[in-house]
Amino acid sequence: MAKKKVMVGVTGGIAAYKAADLVSSLVKQDIDVQVIMTEKAESFISPLTFEALSGNPVWQDEFSPGGGLSVPHVQLAEQADLFVIVPATANTLAKLAWGLADNLLSSIALVYNKTLLIAPAMNTNMYNHPAVQENLATLRRRGVRIIEPASGRLACGATGVGKLAPVEDIVAAIRWHLFEPKGLQGKKVIVTAGGTREAIDPVRFIGNRSSGKMGFALAEAAWLRGADVVLISGPVGLAPPFGVTCHYVESAAQMRQLVLDHYEEADIVVKAAAVADYRVANPGTQKIKKTDNDLELLLTKNPDILKELGEKKRHQVLIGFAAETEELLANAQEKLVKKNLDLIVANDVTRQDAGFNADTNEVTLLFPDGKQEPLPLMSKESLAHHIFQVVEQLPRFKRN
Ligand code: CTP
Repeated sequence: MAKKKVMVGVTGGIAAYKAADLVSSLVKQDIDVQVIMTEKAESFISPLTFEALSGNPVWQDEFSPGGGLSVPHVQLAEQADLFVIVPATANTLAKLAWGLADNLLSSIALVYNKTLLIAPAMNTNMYNHPAVQENLATLRRRGVRIIEPASGRLACGATGVGKLAPVEDIVAAIRWHLFEPKGLQGKKVIVTAGGTREAIDPVRFIGNRSSGKMGFALAEAAWLRGADVVLISGPVGLAPPFGVTCHYVESAAQMRQLVLDHYEEADIVVKAAAVADYRVANPGTQKIKKTDNDLELLLTKNPDILKELGEKKRHQVLIGFAAETEELLANAQEKLVKKNLDLIVANDVTRQDAGFNADTNEVTLLFPDGKQEPLPLMSKESLAHHIFQVVEQLPRFKRN
């Protein structure tokens, strides 16, 4: 795949130093970055920093271009897949809203005709000023995507809205806009992830080894492909994926309730969670005290969430995971039929490089018509995209 090209416009605010972090993250993701700085931005950060991080010359002045382009404002705009302005000052917002072209950055903005992302950063009073808000409204109306500033302590000492959005969020927004194809646009996807915890008493629980990595990778992949994603996860040590609505649960009963709450409007449900099949029949309301005797716990059956979804299935596409330690394909096939699934991902969890807690996975996809697709070892991220690519081709998905 050809490298994606992103123009990063940096304007003169204290948050300009954070743009260095942004450029560094984008370059690490194999994106070609061209930095355009305004004169004022150079009071806050040296062009040399961006030149070193991006490996490209920094564009400052349209009349002494360098860098081998004769008409930079036109050529840069035409080459780019995406233009982001980080940070955007009130002054630059005003220029863009009014169509001024008094420097290279604002001239490029007039030539450029694809998606423009803007991350404003400024003092709270400036941000709330009607002039700034009206300029932002004008830009939004024209299709510019505003990455809203966060609230917090600002450089001026005040606390309020106006802080540059977290760089990870800006990177995520850029990745979303660069990602193609958007095969799940307009679709609602539910993903469950992680393991459930079944209480023994207020301090102890029965759990399992699921890390949540596969489910989180699926949620992010669905979001990048354009879906509206609800992630329902057991307790995990992972950062919530940007753009995804996350609900955290403990027990299978809580997971079941949330999944059912969202099921009706869902188009696709992927049940990557390792749900406890049993729970303690009578969990202690107080911490169970140690005695000289053995302790017996009676376990009672949990509802099988996926089986219930299979029974209620109407337009939804249902995808299950089969975590197995033996008879991988036979057990997975049985679950596919029993739970009325459209696809099951058979996963041998005894392997070091596949299954629980690994960053990679090697699975076989099984379909209701008996077709099997063994896949090579790959990252959980790549597997997540492959699964949705397969789902997007399913006749049941295309029909709905
Ligand atoms: N699952 C579920 N509710 C349960 C148990 C499992 O929704 N109470 C879902 C899992 O999220 C997964 C699929 O069913 O997508 C298969 O889970 P797995 O644990 O492999 O199978 P089980 O049906 O629980 O059978 P067993 O534990 O006997 O292998």
